[in-house]
Amino acid sequence: MTASPHATSTPAPHESALAPVYAQYPFEVARAEGVWLIGPRGERVLDLYGGHAVAALGYGHALWSEALAEQARSCQFQTNALPMSVREHAAQRLLVFAELPFASVFMVNSGAEANENALRLALRMSGRAHVVAIEGAFHGRTAAASAVTWGSQSWYGFARTPFDVSFLPRGDLQAIEAEVSERTAAVIVEPVQGLAGAVDLGAPYLAALRARCDAVGAQLIFDEVQCGFGRIGVPYAARLYGVMPDMLTTAKALGNGFPVAALLTSAQVSATLKIGLLGTTYGGGPMACAAVLATIEAIESERLLENVRRVSAYIRRTCLTGPVSAVQGEGFLLGLRTRRPAKQIHAELLRRGILTGTASDPDVVRLLPPFILQEAHVDLLSRALTDLDA
Ligand SMILES: Cc1ncc(COP(=O)(O)O)c(C=O)c1O
Repeated sequence: MTASPHATSTPAPHESALAPVYAQYPFEVARAEGVWLIGPRGERVLDLYGGHAVAALGYGHALWSEALAEQARSCQFQTNALPMSVREHAAQRLLVFAELPFASVFMVNSGAEANENALRLALRMSGRAHVVAIEGAFHGRTAAASAVTWGSQSWYGFARTPFDVSFLPRGDLQAIEAEVSERTAAVIVEPVQGLAGAVDLGAPYLAALRARCDAVGAQLIFDEVQCGFGRIGVPYAARLYGVMPDMLTTAKALGNGFPVAALLTSAQVSATLKIGLLGTTYGGGPMACAAVLATIEAIESERLLENVRRVSAYIRRTCLTGPVSAVQGEGFLLGLRTRRPAKQIHAELLRRGILTGTASDPDVVRLLPPFILQEAHVDLLSRALTDLDA
């Protein structure tokens, strides 16, 4: 196949040079603006999926685009061994934005990498080799992150997990007592599970995990890669539920599309860090830091978390219609529970110009829209849902 630099549409799957690991939706994105994806012939799709929860500010955001262009002109990259004010500034701003008493920030490139480092620290601090995770969890595709991902045995691909793993049934307080013990290095949990279908684990369950970790000397790790950085209408779920983890991982919305993730550590964990203990080439690069700063600035100056809370409540009021029997989750991490298979609803909505997500629960359509979504956009969804089963 000869690739043309002027090609306006993607080749058929069998002609593609890309590894065939993603099923392709029947819509090609040529460009995007606001909450709209635009095809090669100008056709428009309302984006309620945000590129897997990433595009927090939507598309073509002026402040974010200009901040990245400016950083590219001034210095696009430098090693973490050379101090840069943009890096220090981004870490400080992230700690303030989090509104949680974390002491330091280690920046990496992806959610899985942030979780990998969090687990590594927990194992090293305790000298233990057992980690507890929750049924339904998704933590990423690297060795440690996939070891704590529910159901990963079928695609894990490594000969063995790097440590012993137990999974807890959601909401089962007795199982916490039984499984989290003096041999446990860490409990890792998504406070609102994403891929599972926007499953809110709730304050009492998270508080019980905290209490048990304290009792046995294990680290509590919140994976807020999907639910964090404002997606649930507050900076982090830890704050919403009043449960402080020892470590928190954040990614996705954090860079609004520029790859960046971070591991936030408590004072106690930070005190164990030494030169050379963690490392990365690209993590914390100046472009990533400029993206974090611009995303925080836009969220705050445009009061986007208020918008998430208001429009989320509107979705709950108006989208219980057509095939939807219940709405679960928080903020803009919502699951529409459907009476018919979610895959069907997803495909029918896409045919009507609305992109949603699915979940590992086959009866949940997942919504992860940009934080700028307005009521008028939700009206398009609720009308389409009503029409589906009219
Ligand atoms: C909760 C959670 N943790 C970790 C990850 C992995 O992040 P990444 O794909 O950036 O490695 C994801 C990705 O979907 C996620 O939803």
